[in-house]
Amino acid sequence: MNSLCRSGVLAVTLPGFFLLAACGSNQSADTSTTAKSPAAADSTTKTSATMPTSASFGKTADGTEAQLFTLTNASGAKATITNYAGTLVSLMMPDKDGKMGDVVLGFDDVTGYTGPAFRKANPYIGALIGRYGNRIKNGKFTIDGKTYQVGVNNGPNSLHGGKVGYDQKIWDAQPGTSPEGQTLTLKYLSKDGEEGYPGNLQITVVYTLTDNNALKIDYTATTDKATPINLTNHAYFNLSHGVSKDILAHEVTLPADRYTVVDANLIPTGELKPVKGTPFDFTTPHAIGKRIAQVAGGYDHNWVLNGGEGQHSAATVYDPASGRTMEVTTDQPGIQFYTGNFLDGSLKGKGGTVYGKHGGFCLETQHFPDSPNQPKFPNTVLKPGETYHTTSTYTFGVRK
Ligand code: GLA
Repeated sequence: MNSLCRSGVLAVTLPGFFLLAACGSNQSADTSTTAKSPAAADSTTKTSATMPTSASFGKTADGTEAQLFTLTNASGAKATITNYAGTLVSLMMPDKDGKMGDVVLGFDDVTGYTGPAFRKANPYIGALIGRYGNRIKNGKFTIDGKTYQVGVNNGPNSLHGGKVGYDQKIWDAQPGTSPEGQTLTLKYLSKDGEEGYPGNLQITVVYTLTDNNALKIDYTATTDKATPINLTNHAYFNLSHGVSKDILAHEVTLPADRYTVVDANLIPTGELKPVKGTPFDFTTPHAIGKRIAQVAGGYDHNWVLNGGEGQHSAATVYDPASGRTMEVTTDQPGIQFYTGNFLDGSLKGKGGTVYGKHGGFCLETQHFPDSPNQPKFPNTVLKPGETYHTTSTYTFGVRK
């Protein structure tokens, strides 16, 4: 327990007791829809009381039919999510003139995600990530004296769950509603030994599209053996909806005074370095492109959020071209800010848009990379009888 509290992150429940809540295409072709005012929508649709719709999203390599669910809110914002990897496929949000545009990268059907070009590039676009988001050095860690070897798929390291992570699984999907808006509940049982991880991990992820144009992602999990866990979402954002092919003009603020220094393989050295006076200082807004050339390879680092316990701000983004803003909040201690450095134009997304270098950026709310091997980092080990629970919210607005 104390170790979890020290972590400032895992909300923990034991049976019957609540112990701790917060311790520690753009390129899609559909540009035409204009936002209804919430009042106008209210009198006609009452979307949050109606169910999300679903449609076929095509077949995966083994012939399984994937589904695409559409969540709509009272002002006409929409999120589409597939049960393949729980992927966020599109997210339609208004710009400063009220015109809807798609603010995430994605594909027109499931073969975009399962086809050879995507599998080769392996960019995790929009997917739910686990069992352990980000890297584990040499894919090795020790729990209670036992050393585990998990799938190595990124140089010598394990990245985003190993060779076949949750980003390649079909999740059980249940559309629904909550007082906050339309929901999609996704469940996946990650079996004991999958990719080398210990314990049967039962995961539930709930996406909610709220009437204030927020997409909330809520993750819960329980295990029957102690296991590291670090779940996140790998959406690539470009708030301009195709106006800008890259995201270099987007202005980003990260409320983080420190970041985790990494070695050549992007494994933390253990040092939490002050950002002050470096190109990693986003404590005040900076265009992504302003100092990116000073960072070898581009940004692909974990920032140590100042927020502490409970829900806190994790990032703010403003796109001058469209006027759209995005506010990220989370209860997690870190955020991986990745600027699409490995996108190389080999993938054609929604409506045929080519995804080139810096075509999107990711803000992956998370625990620090390689935490299982860094005793000073917040704890990531979930034990039987505990419940992992974390929520991250992406709220959209405009600045005129
Ligand atoms: C994460 C990693 C990056 C890269 C992307 C996917 O964000 O930190 O290095 O692997 O996923 O391309």
